[in-house]
Amino acid sequence: DSQPGAPSQSVGPEYQPATQKPKATVSTVIPQSNVTILPQTSQLIALLTMIRDKNTGRADFIFYSNRIIRLLVEEGLNHLPTVEHSITTPVGRTYSGVKFEGKICGVSIMRAGESMEEGLRNCCRSVRIGKILIQRDEETAKPKLYYDKLPEDIADRWVMLLDPMLATGGSALMAVDVLKSRGVPEDHILFLNLIASPEGAKNFAERFPKLRVVTAFVDQGLDEKNYIVPGLGDFGDRFYTM
Ligand code: URA
Repeated sequence: DSQPGAPSQSVGPEYQPATQKPKATVSTVIPQSNVTILPQTSQLIALLTMIRDKNTGRADFIFYSNRIIRLLVEEGLNHLPTVEHSITTPVGRTYSGVKFEGKICGVSIMRAGESMEEGLRNCCRSVRIGKILIQRDEETAKPKLYYDKLPEDIADRWVMLLDPMLATGGSALMAVDVLKSRGVPEDHILFLNLIASPEGAKNFAERFPKLRVVTAFVDQGLDEKNYIVPGLGDFGDRFYTM
């Protein structure tokens, strides 16, 4: 059953009349211009339907999550600057193209963010990957930095920050503080995320207006335990253990 206020859209190829297309819940539209939401294509909606389903087992969850992660990385790369690059083809003609010149690295927020490392490696061969572990401090109930291992030259790199679920944004905000404290300019950080809550996206985008967020979907909201709804449950559990 669909949720009140959830945006619904006809999903399918253009040649199909809207009346013949299936309807599905699509991403909430949000005003933050530094948040890019992937196009709500029938493919993406079908992939999200698979991973949201509580009856989807671990092997399928991993397979379909990886396909979405791949889309996020490919879109993320579009947000990096390129320079002109002309080449000669085997038939002797010139092609005026572009190339990416900067250095990049990934930084995963443990544990769930590590699930996105392979997708990043599949697009960026031998990419350096750092890690940050942030957990809730039992005494203060606030996020606390427990561990980080980052490339020593991270200040000279574009950083793809990886975390699949943006709920309240507590850990991701702290992760960005850590990156900035190591000299990474805010506008050199791209946060790649599968599902965001509107609250999380807003907190993040307002606190770091120069940072870009690429997400597959902005969901309806958070429940009383700060799970994203309708969401997909605990991403790390479903990817690593269930
Ligand atoms: N983290 C998850 O894995 N799921 C949520 O719904 C929120 C945070």
